[in-house]
Amino acid sequence: MSSEKHILITGGAGFIGSHVVREFSIKYPNYKITNLDKLTYAGNLENLVDVEAGDNYSFVKGDIVDEAFVDELFTKSDFDAVIHLAAESHVDRSITNPNEFVETNIVGTLNLLNAAKNTWGENTDGKLFYHISTDEVYGSLGETGYFVETTPYDPRSPYSASKAASDHLVRAYFHTYNLPIVISNCSNNYGSHQFPEKLIPLVINNIKHNKEIPVYGKGENVRDWLFVQDHATAIDIIFHEGKLGETYNIGGSNEWKNIDLIHLLCKIMDSKLKRAEGESEKLISFVKDRAGHDMRYAIDSSKLQNELGWKPSLQFEEGLTKTIDWYLANEAWMDNVTSGDYQKYYENQYDK
Ligand code: NAD
Ligand code: TYD
Repeated sequence: MSSEKHILITGGAGFIGSHVVREFSIKYPNYKITNLDKLTYAGNLENLVDVEAGDNYSFVKGDIVDEAFVDELFTKSDFDAVIHLAAESHVDRSITNPNEFVETNIVGTLNLLNAAKNTWGENTDGKLFYHISTDEVYGSLGETGYFVETTPYDPRSPYSASKAASDHLVRAYFHTYNLPIVISNCSNNYGSHQFPEKLIPLVINNIKHNKEIPVYGKGENVRDWLFVQDHATAIDIIFHEGKLGETYNIGGSNEWKNIDLIHLLCKIMDSKLKRAEGESEKLISFVKDRAGHDMRYAIDSSKLQNELGWKPSLQFEEGLTKTIDWYLANEAWMDNVTSGDYQKYYENQYDK
């Protein structure tokens, strides 16, 4: 049985965070999990209905950009570890509003680092600050090659630039203050509970409602897709076995051109919705390209596989089918998220 630990998970009401909270709170009943989340448009406590009653789980609503609040939370909570996922995470939003990305992703991370450093002091035995990052910090690949942990950073969107800055700060705190840190950089995730502004849930939802599927540019950009539960498993392994100060790349070895992925989604959706073959493809609509659209991401995760024994568990079609089944079976979740009803609920619930 694992020893007792109090872990702060930030951004636990979001897409990946909710899977990490579920993984840790169920697998490690001895760990006390505190989920700190601001509940932005992307944070939704409905993502956690199956774990919120657990004795070892609690939720705190708060903003990591609020330094005094973060300091007070650390002072009173005696955290042994932090798994930091809270972020503004959508590239398109970062193009229209970069400032918020700088605030949350850079200043918010800095506040957490300072609070951990100040409360842990010299006594960092068994302590860990685990920063969750993205492969987008490495920039954009051409047709060949892979991102490895030593690939120079070359972020090209305000989102990836803000994540790159936060990665640098986390590493700087390791070298300068001996803060025990580890970082992982993951490729695109897919699965249940993802906000439908990201490609896969957006396409599923639009097909269901017979709405156009917006394909940026020619649809030739390539992403490396990983099932979100495989990311949560990797985080579990890195949290427990990762070497301090190290970076681990996590990826699915599963590259898809956007247009090919959309065709596959259309095919599976036609069969699930009992539509004639080819019906959903008629919804495809090529639209103006994203500014500075990164061409290709592809991760080499051999360090994580060879040193810590992780590997992805699912074939893509199986994962996509599970994902589609989840969205179709959880209509109420999707309707709440798209209508914004859940946000009104939180305003009434928390912001009196
Ligand atoms: P998400 O947008 O679904 O969730 C982010 C969560 O952070 C939300 O619950 C939101 O309410 C919370 N949050 C935002 N600002 C906050 C603030 N100021 N204070 C406290 N909480 C705040 O994002 P996600 O897709 O689950 O990504 C989680 C992390 O993983 C991010 O750090 C992201 O950069 C990283 N990541 C994501 C992917 C991906 O494919 N989605 C891939 C690699 C890495
Ligand atoms: P997204 O899910 O936003 O993730 P990221 O930009 O972080 O990789 O987008 C995945 C890919 O899909 C990306 O190349 C942009 C493209 N895309 C579209 O073509 N149409 C859309 O409506 C969206 C949201 C994304």
